[in-house]
Amino acid sequence: MTFINTLLQRGEKKKEERILAQYMSEIPEHKFGLDTLPEINDFLALLDSCFLQPRALALPTQYSFAVSVLCDLKCPYCPRQTYGEIIESGLMSIKKFRTLAEYFKFSRYTGLFGLGEPLLHPEFFGFVKTVKNVNGYAATSTHGMLLSEQVIAQLLDSGLDELEISIDAVNPEIFGFLRAGADIKTLIKNIQLLQTEKKRRGSRRPRVQIASVISVYNLREMPALVRLAKQLEVEKIVFTNMIITHPENKHVSVYPSGAFSRMLNRAQGLGKKLGIEVCFFYQKPYPWQRKIFSEISGATEAPMGYGCPLIWRSLYVELNGDVKPCCYFEEVFGNCFEESPERIFNNPQFRQLRQQLLSGDLPQSCVDCGNLVKITDAYLDQKLAEAEMRLHSLQSRITEKEFNQLKNLLAEFSSMAHNIVSK
Ligand SMILES: C[S@@+](CC[C@H](N)C(=O)[O-])C[C@H]1O[C@@H](n2cnc3c(N)ncnc32)[C@H](O)[C@@H]1O
Ligand code: SF4
Repeated sequence: MTFINTLLQRGEKKKEERILAQYMSEIPEHKFGLDTLPEINDFLALLDSCFLQPRALALPTQYSFAVSVLCDLKCPYCPRQTYGEIIESGLMSIKKFRTLAEYFKFSRYTGLFGLGEPLLHPEFFGFVKTVKNVNGYAATSTHGMLLSEQVIAQLLDSGLDELEISIDAVNPEIFGFLRAGADIKTLIKNIQLLQTEKKRRGSRRPRVQIASVISVYNLREMPALVRLAKQLEVEKIVFTNMIITHPENKHVSVYPSGAFSRMLNRAQGLGKKLGIEVCFFYQKPYPWQRKIFSEISGATEAPMGYGCPLIWRSLYVELNGDVKPCCYFEEVFGNCFEESPERIFNNPQFRQLRQQLLSGDLPQSCVDCGNLVKITDAYLDQKLAEAEMRLHSLQSRITEKEFNQLKNLLAEFSSMAHNIVSK
């Protein structure tokens, strides 16, 4: 039974029509098979990622939900500690979250955590199942201390796709300092339990990865963390630079620095040898600094404008349903427990923000962000080629007329791109 049929049976025809209306308004005489809608949405999302207009054609393909803003650890660098009282703790309502279930069919990534520990939410697996019931992609990040046999069983039953486990050091003392309230011995035992149970069930999910926040305290732990990943049969480790929330703590940062680059190189070399994927995820190291992105990236040529995959494709949702374009924004763009996500996604505030980026006039929240994309000739060529390939992969499952409609849309975008380049 298709997702749309299920909705129809539950008498939710209005919601289904609302989603379809977005496509219909963009593609006249819309008659696509409903089962291909998520893939058509992917195609439209690729056109959106050309960043050619302030309106998004596709429904969001990526979500981040702050399901838990509650934690039993006290990691000293976490904004929960550094901002203290400002952080309002709480748990997201599963009932409200479920009202959005239909949208997850279009999501290619739904992050379920927040500034807290997701496994402390008594309904956490209900969130995962809501996403998985419609074939969405569900991911989370955990401190891993609550991975008991029972929790592991629930986790594997839920169908969670991706589990990121935070480990900042192998050395017990450094670990105990950075992940205050946790201990590395228990954590390793928990991860081993998880991996054993996955094997016993013959399950590849969830894909487990390690996340390590690097600072002056654990810079030298990087190679040991790669070795630990190997020992725990974890295929990927993501190092990230510590976000320093207050200028007086700047000395704790090691990014950017030669020492950090050298250690990352060593970790990556070791990763290659051991068959572990070692990545670096850049986060704004000093949120109070207002340096422009080109100074960071070393770009000399003025770009045609900026795009951002998050602003064109993703929604960041706070505990109470408030929507922001991403975690760096303080402004609220709507509330998705009160208003539909697709309405918020193209409201005047969102469109104005996209327009601002396109004109190269960066809003303060975007300054210094690694997600920014410079819209260049080569970038547009690559995205349009990807969209063309995606369209051809869809061809056998849609009618000729439908194929031609999407092809015309692609031609329209190519012509918009041409006009920008030739300006
Ligand atoms: C906020 S936590 C929430 C999930 C869970 N409690 C955990 O620790 O994995 C998500 C990730 O953010 C990282 N993080 C926390 N504070 C950070 C900071 N100041 N800079 C960079 N990453 C940070 C954590 O180490 C963790 O990997
Ligand atoms: S476990 Fe996660 S949410 Fe809790 S204090 Fe540490 S980093 Fe923050």
